[in-house]
Amino acid sequence: MLRVAVVGSGPSGVYTAQSLVEQTAVPDVRVHVLDRLPCPYGLVRYGVAPDHEKIKSLQNNLRTVLEHERIGFVGNVEVGGHGVTPARLLELYHAVVYCVGAARDRHLGVPGEDLPGSCSATDFVSWYSAHPDATPDAFVLGARSAVVIGVGNVAVDVARILARGPGELHPTDVPEAALGALAASRVREVHMVGRRGPSQAKFTTKELRELGAMPQARVEVEPADLALDPAYADPAGLPAVSRRNVEVVRAWAEATGPEPRERVIRLRFFLRPVEVLERGGRAAGVRFERTVPDGAGGVRGTGAYEDIEAQLVLRAVGYRGVPLEGLPFDASRGTVPHAAGRVLRDGVPSAGEYVAGWIKRGPTGVIGTNRPCAKETAGSLLADAPALARRTVAADPLATLRAWGHRPVEWPGWLSIEQAEAALGHTLGRGSVKIPDWSGLLAAAGQD
Ligand SMILES: Cc1cc2nc3c(=O)[nH]c(=O)nc-3n(C[C@H](O)[C@H](O)[C@H](O)COP(=O)(O)OP(=O)(O)OC[C@H]3O[C@@H](n4cnc5c(N)ncnc54)[C@H](O)[C@@H]3O)c2cc1C
Ligand SMILES: NC(=O)c1ccc[n+]([C@@H]2O[C@H](COP(=O)([O-])OP(=O)(O)OC[C@H]3O[C@@H](n4cnc5c(N)ncnc54)[C@H](OP(=O)(O)O)[C@@H]3O)[C@@H](O)[C@H]2O)c1
Repeated sequence: MLRVAVVGSGPSGVYTAQSLVEQTAVPDVRVHVLDRLPCPYGLVRYGVAPDHEKIKSLQNNLRTVLEHERIGFVGNVEVGGHGVTPARLLELYHAVVYCVGAARDRHLGVPGEDLPGSCSATDFVSWYSAHPDATPDAFVLGARSAVVIGVGNVAVDVARILARGPGELHPTDVPEAALGALAASRVREVHMVGRRGPSQAKFTTKELRELGAMPQARVEVEPADLALDPAYADPAGLPAVSRRNVEVVRAWAEATGPEPRERVIRLRFFLRPVEVLERGGRAAGVRFERTVPDGAGGVRGTGAYEDIEAQLVLRAVGYRGVPLEGLPFDASRGTVPHAAGRVLRDGVPSAGEYVAGWIKRGPTGVIGTNRPCAKETAGSLLADAPALARRTVAADPLATLRAWGHRPVEWPGWLSIEQAEAALGHTLGRGSVKIPDWSGLLAAAGQD
């Protein structure tokens, strides 16, 4: 028997576990999927937007994998930090695959970005997704105008959630406090701002189009911004997704007369943030410098500035991996160094240690991108199986973890959380509603 720990139960962890058990070359591989949270599914539960029901339902596919007879979910066990160290984990398992994601925010490095009212989209997403580490602030309180910095899919998600009307999120699993704050929101203008042009935006066309299909919001674009993009006039040579994005933006620019909607999403380009402005100790807007293409795919500043007023500033400028104590880390890339998924220590593969997902590749790619990534890592591990099986490991890893003071939440505990969330939703006259705090989750899992 080969016993493997997969650390992280997001898509890359679950796909790794699946690749390890759904093969015949190495019989009887047993996998424990560990997570620091008592709940599985990573960003599918705590990142994918609540109004994207179809993508959210991918949790059902991940659930089927985690219910495999040779896979066990072991929640509420952190690796690194205050948890079990990577070295000790290797005493319990023949191999360990790190699939811990890259769920921290990136900073802009401009004055004022830490003012109250200026936050990362990461924190905003965690709040409306009920992540138990989220700060309980009511993000939209008092704001009438919001600036979202960045033009990737996370920016589109948060702009869309901000522009949703009261009632639109009621059928989702958004936690009650966030639902109340969003329903009471006075935000009527959302500015989504890119430092480069529409042909270089990172969002995908399906997600972009959705902004124009919202019942209570219209999209506006500035023709003057678009004119700066050389590819806007002639998008023929662009990659397909960029060409389609340009077509969608063009249709909005050419639309005649504003639609009568209460909320507006203003899509802006060629503006780079230089300062978050302050009034009364809070964020009051963002100063942008007008940029122009530099001819090499980037932009250069022009020395002309534009201020956009906003009481809520969200930077959606990407995620980053964080070092896990005891594992090597490439700080410049925010990833664990590896060769085909084998963790490299000082350039040499470390026996029994592997990596997959965002912490292997960096924080880009949709859920499906993690499947081939996980498969590559599982392939490396399986090729190493004869040597791995010779390693001496503890007879019962869960008993040892408990003896070391951990209190794992296993699959029945998670199912109890699901039931508690369904019951909470029932009492609130909603569908399933997420429990947003550690104590509530652990109590629901039977760990009072
Ligand atoms: C806001 C947002 C929305 C997205 N929406 C979509 C979408 O709609 N469609 C789509 O296709 N893609 C979407 N993506 C991309 C998709 O979520 C990622 O490709 C995917 O989640 C990456 O998988 P992962 O397993 O590497 O990381 P994650 O999903 O982040 O999973 C990592 C897991 O590791 C656990 N963990 C972390 N550290 C430790 C530790 N020290 N010990 C134990 N456990 C640990 C975490 O709790 C987590 O469960 C979105 C991404 C973001 C950020
Ligand atoms: N529905 C979905 O499928 C979905 C939803 C959410 C996320 N995701 C995926 O998750 C991944 C992460 O998404 P993401 O939106 O966080 O990252 P992303 O796609 O990398 O987009 C980041 C955005 O931030 C901008 N940016 C970076 N640094 C900046 C700075 N200093 N100043 C101003 N702008 C800056 C980037 O502009 P530049 O291009 O100029 O650097 C880009 O527009 C992506 O692969 C995404 O597709 C998918």
